[in-house]
Amino acid sequence: STNNAGTTTDAAASDASSDTSNDAAATEAADAGDAAADAATDADASLADKKVGVCIYQFSDNFMTLFRTELENYLVEKGFSKDNITIVDGANDQATQTGQIDNFITEGVDVLIINPVNSSSAATITDKVVAAGIPLVYINREPDEEEQKRWSDNNWDVTYVGCDARQSGTFQGEMISAIDLNKNGKVDYIMVEGDPENVDAQYRTEFSVKALEDAGLEVNCLSDQVGNWQQDQAQQIVANALGQYGNDVEVVFCNNDAMALGALQAIQSAGRTVGTDIYLVGVDALSEALEDVLAGTMTGTVFNDHFSQSHSAADAAINYITGAGNDHYIGCDYVKVTKDNAQDVLDMVK
Ligand code: BGC
Repeated sequence: STNNAGTTTDAAASDASSDTSNDAAATEAADAGDAAADAATDADASLADKKVGVCIYQFSDNFMTLFRTELENYLVEKGFSKDNITIVDGANDQATQTGQIDNFITEGVDVLIINPVNSSSAATITDKVVAAGIPLVYINREPDEEEQKRWSDNNWDVTYVGCDARQSGTFQGEMISAIDLNKNGKVDYIMVEGDPENVDAQYRTEFSVKALEDAGLEVNCLSDQVGNWQQDQAQQIVANALGQYGNDVEVVFCNNDAMALGALQAIQSAGRTVGTDIYLVGVDALSEALEDVLAGTMTGTVFNDHFSQSHSAADAAINYITGAGNDHYIGCDYVKVTKDNAQDVLDMVK
């Protein structure tokens, strides 16, 4: 479904320069015709020679891998040439990423899509990209309000595409408060957080617990630790917490699914059973987590819609290139996922 006119056109063009037979020329003409038909509008055609620089905070992140794969496919579908899309790995190091941004500026890309390593570096990044006259689309790690205000105050071509992390936290809490825990009148939980510099980690932690309180439940935090979005770190944290607090642990909140998968390994090793004597929720709707929700080995997750976010980011990039412009904030909704709708979401993400 991501067949793209850009690649077809490139292939036809290189065939034309290396093969002069009439048959080949006829085939090329037909291919070019197909390509033209595939390329829906004139605007698409003008994107084929535009350069896009994409900075990802860390390639090994599961969620950002889904995001960047879909982003590239969609950019190509929209008419960009694959050769003109450069996606780089910041390796979770802001200095590395800043160097990559400098290189893109020197190269003279037409637009930048940036998933910052540190959201707190956004002001520095914005300043240099704006000074270079390059439009900028931030993704996934939301710069703070003060930074976003500068974009609108100065009317800069800078925007953020993402979801409101408070919603994902609230959904997690609601899935837990819907269960009759029926123990000692309070919810004893473990929290496993993503990188605390990240607003997604802060808000998911805060709003999952707030949803329990809003439902009239008393809460008791047994342990709250940073797993940096990573499965192995979460496994260790939850194994230790289960060792320390044993059967007191009723709920494990994880700020994302990668960590929930690690938590599940620890829960199973400790001989506990999700859905019976312990409850576990994550965020993202990774396919592995969705399989667990269907099997009952995870209580629920929250779909972090990487299709919508990557498409909106690409569309925003196109709007800057064509001069149409963008709002300074482009939102997206999360979706609560329980056993009831996990198959539908799995069909969509697979
Ligand atoms: C996702 C995490 C991911 C993080 C990266 C979050 O929105 O839920 O899985 O690690 O973004 O910044």
